[in-house]
Amino acid sequence: MTFPERRLRRLRRTPALRRLVAEYRVTVDDLIAPLFVKEGIDTPEPVASMPGVVQHTQESLRKEVRALCDLGVPGVMIFGVPAHKDARGTQADAADGVVQIALRNLRDEVGDALVLMVDDCLDEYTDHGHCGIVSAEGEVDNDATLERYASIAVAQADAGADVIAPSGMMDGQVSAIRAALDETGHTTTPILAYAAKYASALYGPFRDAAECAPQFGDRRGYQMDPANAREALVEVALDVAEGADMVMIKPALAYLDVIAEVRAAFDVPVAAYHVSGEYAMVKAAAQLGWIDGEAVALEHLLAIKRAGAEMILTYFAREFAEAL
Ligand code: PBG
Repeated sequence: MTFPERRLRRLRRTPALRRLVAEYRVTVDDLIAPLFVKEGIDTPEPVASMPGVVQHTQESLRKEVRALCDLGVPGVMIFGVPAHKDARGTQADAADGVVQIALRNLRDEVGDALVLMVDDCLDEYTDHGHCGIVSAEGEVDNDATLERYASIAVAQADAGADVIAPSGMMDGQVSAIRAALDETGHTTTPILAYAAKYASALYGPFRDAAECAPQFGDRRGYQMDPANAREALVEVALDVAEGADMVMIKPALAYLDVIAEVRAAFDVPVAAYHVSGEYAMVKAAAQLGWIDGEAVALEHLLAIKRAGAEMILTYFAREFAEAL
């Protein structure tokens, strides 16, 4: 026998055959669209480093979410860019803060047809650009920050958020938020914990979109070291123990091993965030004509599914939903 009995190419002959035997697929049901809403602008502002992504006005955000909803995208993640920033990020939990207004509008627009997720963090709202309260020594104060996250979560839930997503990587943030939500009657509001969020250089374009680059230092004192994989399992275990309903790994492609390990070790839904830098790299190379952007994007999302994520936050959500 020159050939083995089982010839794998038999099942690759036609597109229909390949479709039938595909182990994984990306569907519109997997997608969560991250969206930015900015206070004090009259027209949407393009984000230079993220072609196709804009900072929305309240009105354009409403239209975008309506379109995503009509395309069948099940969720969005809202980020706010306030007109006024200060040391404590007071706009983050103001009743008339940019995100709270957006949540009320969107709830009104789509009802329960789409899941409104919201980022619970301070970097978009602080003048220093850090994700928490900065102490006199210039450190991000963990426990002072927890109080802020708890208050923000309540303001967001009051405004109609379906899911609170703490992204600041403070220790104990999930239990602080869970307790605050429960005390204020938001017992049915789930938490999607950014459980394993790495201190990644791939967030660069996001910091343009959210205008939140740290004004001094970096985020390595709270976000995870890219050198560590086992530590991600500890982060996830703690967040699940503290009451996280779902967990997220971020970024995605450079951390597929972490996604796979978390998927294998835990039974909560796992999300992965295909972040701004991952999107920008595909878009930039495609614009230069060096790669087929749409094909590469699909390959990225498939890899993330194969690794074990059941939800993917991606700036490709709209493009994908339209193409699918
Ligand atoms: C922090 C936050 C960041 C992102 C999501 N939430 C930025 C950061 O940690 O610096 C990055 C997302 C992306 O790059 O697409 N609120």
